[in-house]
Amino acid sequence: GRSVTRDEQGRLCVAGLDVDTIARRHGTAAYVMDEADFRARASGFRDAFAGAFDRFGGADVYYAGKAFLCTAVARWVAEEGLALDVCTGGELAVARRVGFPGERLAFHGNNKTVDELRAALEYGVGRIVVDSFHEIDRVLAVAAELGVVAPVMVRVTVGVEAHTHEFIATGHEDQKFGFSLAGGQAAEAARRLLARPDAVRLLGLHSHIGSQIFDTGGFEAAIHRLVGLQAEIEEEHGVELPEVDLGGGYGIAYTSQHTPLGPETLADAMADIVEREFTVLGDGDNRRVPKVSIEPGRAIVGPGTFTLYEVGTVKPVDLGGGRTRTYVSVDGGMSDNARPALYEADYSCSLANRTSDAEPMQVRVVGRHCESGDIVVLDEYLPSDLRPGDLLAVPGTGAYCRSLSSQYNHTPRPPVVVVREGESRVVVRRETIDDLLALDVADA
Ligand code: LLP
Repeated sequence: GRSVTRDEQGRLCVAGLDVDTIARRHGTAAYVMDEADFRARASGFRDAFAGAFDRFGGADVYYAGKAFLCTAVARWVAEEGLALDVCTGGELAVARRVGFPGERLAFHGNNKTVDELRAALEYGVGRIVVDSFHEIDRVLAVAAELGVVAPVMVRVTVGVEAHTHEFIATGHEDQKFGFSLAGGQAAEAARRLLARPDAVRLLGLHSHIGSQIFDTGGFEAAIHRLVGLQAEIEEEHGVELPEVDLGGGYGIAYTSQHTPLGPETLADAMADIVEREFTVLGDGDNRRVPKVSIEPGRAIVGPGTFTLYEVGTVKPVDLGGGRTRTYVSVDGGMSDNARPALYEADYSCSLANRTSDAEPMQVRVVGRHCESGDIVVLDEYLPSDLRPGDLLAVPGTGAYCRSLSSQYNHTPRPPVVVVREGESRVVVRRETIDDLLALDVADA
């Protein structure tokens, strides 16, 4: 995050508070979140896209709650004037708790239940992004039951290979999301929806090609195909679809290997692509660009959080040939960050409670779980005087860490601590072993 500094004792500080104080007050492991960073990135996306898309009537930014959502974050998103993408009844419940404006909610998911659809429509969500024919039937039934017209978008599988890990690519044909464009299912979905204006209103098409993406080529290919489909639908049915959603997926820098585009560059590039591609809708003076929306999650919440761990053991392992690797065990691991194990994701870390002039040594930072794949940072250099009790900070853990966390090995999950202007507060409290035992029926 932008406000991470060192104080005169060499301690890492975030928003004016040092890590020793944070660790003493809140314990380790802990996710430490810089509120100002989140707000700056959220408003940065909002303003960059509003500016670049000004000539097309602006653009809406939906924060993708799956990256990380809690009550405080939902409130910040509302206060910063963004919209919110939720993908379960649980995320919807968080939004409802802060009175998030229903019309600024998008409801996603490839297997929404009837109860979730009912809750979403009763709350008045601005759009349900439908993902299958079975779901269309359910939306029609629930809308009829409630006597409402459900606003919907059609999630389209555009057939684009995003350049990212296969587990987080979603635009190519052979995966579970969306209606296939090439197979004609997307056009058929639009046909079925447009046939039922009594129960649904088709706002437009939606595409999300994947996550942790660094070039705009994939978006360009996706938009090209999406617009072609939109033109066909509009011609076949004599309608105008007022909106289009281009999804999220903007990459962040976990290590120095990555160079993120930044919201302004991204917004300008996306607006240029939209300008070029949407020429097929209408002609001459009647050219029309639908209202664009995007759904960044990681790029807003990822960078402003680090995980603070305490070192428990330092163990040099002889690799032969005069080489050593030092295994550093911390008080967390794959339960609070599953991404290295799931996606071979790369992180970095630094000594947080002091600086040191000792020679750097090559380390692998590992967790406390009973698996050798329990890796926190695969490859890093830390001072060779590293010792138990030292604190390590792993940056960039705001997205898909707490939200993907588990209680593997009966490990209570760390708290989310927010720092603002030198003050810390807990926004998600630390789980306790009693929390875990409470779910476990003692006399069963
Ligand atoms: N919109 C839709 C429809 C999505 O499915 C996603 C992410 C997003 C937006 C936000 O994507 P973002 O801007 O955060 O990349 N657990 C994986 C990432 C899964 C992404 C799921 N969908 C990871 O840790 O890399």
